[in-house]
This record gives sequence, C-alpha cells and structure tokens, in this order.
Amino acid sequence: MGNFINFAYLAAIILFIFGLKGLTHPRTAVRGNLLGALGMLIAIIVTLIDQKLLAFPLGYILIAMGLVVGAVAGAILAIKIEMTAMPQMVALFNGFGGAASVLVAWAELCNEGNSNTAIVAAMLAGLIGTVTFWGSLVAFAKLQEYKSFKKPYDYPFQKIGNAVLAAVVVLLAVIGILLGGNVAVYILLVMVATVLGITLVNPIGGADMPVVIALLNSYSGLAATATGFVLNNSVLIVAGSLVGASGLILTSIMCKAMNRSLTNVLFGVMGDGGETASADDVYGGKVKSTSAEEVAMLFDTARRVVIVPGYGMAVAQAQHAVRDLTNHLEDRGVEVEFAVHPVAGRMPGHMNVLLAEAEIPYEQLKEPDEVNPAMSQTDVVIVIGANDVVNPEARNPKSAIAGMPIIDCDKAPTCIVIKRSLSPGFAGIPNPLFALENTLMYFGDGKKAILDLVSALKE
Ligand code: TAP
Repeated sequence: MGNFINFAYLAAIILFIFGLKGLTHPRTAVRGNLLGALGMLIAIIVTLIDQKLLAFPLGYILIAMGLVVGAVAGAILAIKIEMTAMPQMVALFNGFGGAASVLVAWAELCNEGNSNTAIVAAMLAGLIGTVTFWGSLVAFAKLQEYKSFKKPYDYPFQKIGNAVLAAVVVLLAVIGILLGGNVAVYILLVMVATVLGITLVNPIGGADMPVVIALLNSYSGLAATATGFVLNNSVLIVAGSLVGASGLILTSIMCKAMNRSLTNVLFGVMGDGGETASADDVYGGKVKSTSAEEVAMLFDTARRVVIVPGYGMAVAQAQHAVRDLTNHLEDRGVEVEFAVHPVAGRMPGHMNVLLAEAEIPYEQLKEPDEVNPAMSQTDVVIVIGANDVVNPEARNPKSAIAGMPIIDCDKAPTCIVIKRSLSPGFAGIPNPLFALENTLMYFGDGKKAILDLVSALKE
C-alpha cells in the first residue's frame, strides 16, 4: 500500500511540474491547467485513501461535511463573481490557503507526541499562514477599492513597528518550539502575526499592488510547504514549494515591470508621498474630445496601429469588439499590434487572458520594450481603458509612480484614449497624456465605443 501511495504522489508531483511548464506559454496553457488539475485529483484521492483518518468512519464524515460546505461556498462564489472581480477572488484564495495552514498546524499541536520537525513546521505554518491570511484580506479590500484601504496608509514609526512585530513573532515561534509546541504560545504567535499581516500590507498600495499580490501568493505556497512537514505529506511539501517558488519568480517579474526593488515595496511606503498635480491643473481647458466618425476618418490613412488595453477593457468586456476592430483594420491592410503592459489590469496576465479569449493571435501581443521604440512611427495608438500604464508622469521623479516603465503613447503622432471620464486609474493620479496636443479623448464605455467605431469604419 505504502509503495502505491508514494508512486501515486510521485505521479501527481510530475503532473504538477508538467502543468506548470505548460502554463509558461499561452498555446500550452490549457493543457498545462488540465495536467495540474489531474495531479490535484490524484493527490486528493490518494490522500483520502492514505490517511489514518481518525476513528473511521467519523474522519470521512467530517471530510465529507467539509467538502460539501467548501463546494457549495466555492460554487456560489464562482457563479456570482464578476469577471472583473477575479483578482480579488484570487487574493481571497491565497488568504484561505494561509488560514487552512494555520488551522491544520493548530490541530496537530493539540495532538500529543509530535516530532521536532512537525513542531518547527507548525510554528512556521502558523506564522506564514497568518501573515498570508490577513495580508490577503487587506489586499482584497484594496483591490475592491474600499475607501479606507485604497490609499497606501502611512503612520509614524511604521518600519520600526513592523520590524518589532516581526521580531516578536519569530521570538514566539522559538519559545513555542523550545516548549515542545506549546498551544498557548502558538495562539499568541497567531495573534501578533495577525497585526503584522495587516501592517505589512496596508502601507502598500497604488501601482505597487501587483508586487504584493504575487508575494502573498508565494507566501501561501510556503505556508502549505510548512503544513506538508507538519503532516509529513510529501505531495503537499512539493506542491507548496512549487507555488512558493513560482510566486517568487512572479514577484521578481512584477518588481522588474514596476522598476521597484522588493525591499522598497516591502519596507517603504510606495505609491504615496509623491507630488500630485490637481486634475484641474493637468486638464484645465486642454482636453479635446472626439467621436467614432472622427476616429474612423483617422484610420483612412493609417498604416500602423497599436492598441493598448487596460483594466477598463476588462470592465467593459470589450475584448471581442476589439478583435472585430482588429479584423476590420487588417482587412484594410493596416498593421495592428497590441502593447501589453505586465501590470495592466488587476492580476498578472489579465490582458493576455482576455485577448486570448477573443482569439487574438499571441504573436500580435508585444511588451512595452518591443513597441516603444516604434511609437513615433505608429500612425494611431488606441488606448482602451488603460490609464496608469500609459501615464507619462512616471517619468517625473517626484511623482507617486516615478520610475514605473510605461507604454510611450505620448510619443505617437496621434493617440486616441477610450474611457468614460477623466477619472484616474488605480494609482489615483491625473494623467497628462489626456491633455496632450496629439491626444483625442473618445469618451464612452469601452465596448460601445469600439462597436460604434467599427460601424463608422464600415460606413
Ligand atoms: P487603471 O490605471 O486602473 O485605469 C483603468 C481605467 O479604465 C480607468 O481610468 C477607467 O476610467 C477606465 N475604465 C473603467 N471602466 C471602463 C469602461 N467600462 N470603459 C472604458 N474605460 C473604463 O488601469 P491600467 O492602466 O490597466 O493599470 C493597472 C493599474 O492597476 C496599475 O496601477 C497597476 O499597478 C494596478 N494593479 C495591477 C495589478 C496587476 S497584478 N495587474 C494588481 C493590482 C493593481 P473611467 O472611469 O473614466 O472610464
């Protein structure tokens, strides 16, 4: 039996690894997802067979109850959730992973006769899991744009305060280990780590959120790994390590995309404190609006067009309309490319997923580095629902988004911006691009605006 279990776990682990490999390219992503899911199914079934479930059949009854509650809650959430709220949902998933680790470690500590490894791992699972859970809840509130969480929150002695809290939880973990996995110390550790999770994530905000989301994702994996050691379960150790490692790689990609160092994001208050000009100063009397007919006329002479999607395209669910526009332009012999910023939208790969759903060929999606050099030779740039990722304020060293690489739409001969109003993006700062000489604002809902444009082009 033991051999069969180990062999099945090994198969699940191999499937996870091939699944992750598949996820590295859009063409193989669906297969990768299926392989990962199959690995998870095997892992669950084998774990159910493997476990010395307490007092059969009570163990299975409890698991079945948990499955029903989890499945019902998950199904309701999945059905009700708006596509635009997926990033918040993912933040919650990370958090619940952390919470599960905290509870499992707690339950194990209540048992007698734990090994030293299990005790150390339980303390670590409690620490990392709690920070992940509370940090993810704060990230959820920020993504949901709840008023009191939206702005990065700075308070006196924040860095020292966090350092002290971190030192206290580590000290508690050590005391807990020395006392042989003392449950009271564990609960105290969880309480202090709760405050740490909140104070660690709350100061981060604005355009730096992608980094913290990727990092929390990695933490949830580390918490799962620690739980794997608590339960002596190899598949959980490997799966947690894979999540932890891939989360770290994603964090590093996000840091690069934002031109931030991880320590800056974690220990400095980012996205705040910069000088923000008022909207009146930036836009006052300088914004020119346009219509579908006018934009259609601009395309008469265009040879090369770049489309820059952002969060607003997701809100408007305009990706299929964008595909129609692309087809139409290409039929007229126009070269169309998409400039996709790594942090556009609200989750890593957000724009790639939407454009893939609309069957826009992957080869047409370009990174900012690839399109920026050709911006001045691009006849028309269409920005649809993007704001922060095209904000030239990033070049101002005093601005809140200073140093963030952007898509240089301001360097194109003509830039059309589709959005509903002049309201700011996630970072909350005005965008001078909208007031430039070569920019025309095409106000309206993204989907409707594009559909109207396609009709105007047909006429
Ligand atoms: P944002 O800067 O957030 O701007 C989105 C714009 O879309 C808004 O200005 C909004 O203007 C417009 N919009 C909303 N609904 C629309 C609709 N139905 N039709 C047309 N436009 C609509 O988006 P971005 O440029 O993609 O930048 C992403 C931001 O989110 C960055 O600051 C990034 O750091 C942050 N962030 C990213 C992530 C990840 S992982 N990608 C995670 C968290 C935060 P109107 O209201 O005027 O229409």
